[in-house]
Amino acid sequence: MAISVKAPQINPDQTGINGNFKGQDILSLSQFDQRSLGILFQHADEMAKLRKKGTILDLLKGNIVTLLFYEPSSRTFGSFSSSTLRLGGQTIPIHDAKTSSSVAKGETLEDTMGVFQTYSDLIVLRHSETGAAANAANAANVPLINAGDGIGEHPTQALMDLYTINNRFGTLDNLTVVFAGDMLNGRTVHSVLLGLSLFKNTTVYLLSPKILRLSRQHFNLYKERGVKMVEIEKETDLPKDAHVWYWTRVQKERFTDLNEYERTKNSFILTKKLVDTYGSDQLILMHPLPRVGEILTEVDSDSRAIYFRDEIENGVYVRMALLALILGKL
Ligand code: CP
Repeated sequence: MAISVKAPQINPDQTGINGNFKGQDILSLSQFDQRSLGILFQHADEMAKLRKKGTILDLLKGNIVTLLFYEPSSRTFGSFSSSTLRLGGQTIPIHDAKTSSSVAKGETLEDTMGVFQTYSDLIVLRHSETGAAANAANAANVPLINAGDGIGEHPTQALMDLYTINNRFGTLDNLTVVFAGDMLNGRTVHSVLLGLSLFKNTTVYLLSPKILRLSRQHFNLYKERGVKMVEIEKETDLPKDAHVWYWTRVQKERFTDLNEYERTKNSFILTKKLVDTYGSDQLILMHPLPRVGEILTEVDSDSRAIYFRDEIENGVYVRMALLALILGKL
């Protein structure tokens, strides 16, 4: 069968955070070590506590964040908006940049950066090309956060997912995690795997259609970083002791042959029967969303399903902490 989706590039290693977020671009999970994650999670905990107490925060008062999105988004756009506003900051919201900004007239990404660095203190960029965030960060003189670059990475989704897993299990060591769906194009998977590879004794099962297997470059990278990587082809090979099932959407927008997408999209569907057969009581069910049929709605009421609960809520706390740290407010 012809593969009509392109293999992803791996973002080159970026400058490490090393515990100091101020002024940093956030482009890849490869910038993080355990200490930096710990600092971020501690501040996210604080944000959660303050929000739950109803405290009004003004850490970003006087700050402006540009949200520049070249690809559609509900959660990332909404949660960065919410996080900025909840900290007393303001946003320049640009949805559909390809059609609604001067990009439609042919303006380059670099020139766009040259403008919005003057209008704002930080830029959040979603782009359809892998590596675009790194290029934009090079051009901009304000910090830039990668809100998803093509089939490359989605670091802030991974940060909130790792925070969510850590909150649930009290550790990121000794975990068994199943990833299912589109491993080739799933930028969130690429970032979460980089994060998990920082921790001890991680076992990962990858369940995907053959044409959407993780690229060998990615597979070898995580393996070299110490993750035990196991590829499986059918649900009956699922381990019964997994801590996390991280389900993902087959990404229609990455296919050049839509017939191939139609043949592939329903390969692995998470049903109540599947989770009751192979899932333990400790299991949590995660998904970066949106879902388009690969998790049946009958699963939503299962107490293990946290994709509409913890993941969404924690996204705001983690992004609040990240924005405040980068802008030097914490
Ligand atoms: N998880 C995620 O990136 O969702 P959106 O595409 O809606 O932002």
